[in-house]
Amino acid sequence: MTRVTFISADGQDRTIVDAPAGECLLDVAQAHGQPLEGTCEGQMACSTCHVIVDPEDFGKLPQASESEEDMLDLAAGATRTSRLSCQIRLEDWLESLTVRMPQESRNMQGV
Ligand code: FES
Repeated sequence: MTRVTFISADGQDRTIVDAPAGECLLDVAQAHGQPLEGTCEGQMACSTCHVIVDPEDFGKLPQASESEEDMLDLAAGATRTSRLSCQIRLEDWLESLTVRMPQESRNMQGV
């Protein structure tokens, strides 16, 4: 299990989920109502699954591939600890992972 904490773009809401090993972070996020489109379904062609990883957790994740880095360059509101959630597989050794939704998420309601 990995305890995943999703933080809303405005920092107001937290959703805490225990995700089984092997799950893709994007799938877990979508299953719990997070506003990530994930349009290309993990093909690294859209960057709408972009999340901002908590700096403390960022180092625990395996490095992003070159293609992922290229997509992140195009992602709205990307930061140094941004990742594509479709490329993150949750494993037990991660234990916990905190990610925030990017500000510019196109799915944000009421903006
Ligand atoms: Fe498109 Fe992740 S779902 S890049």
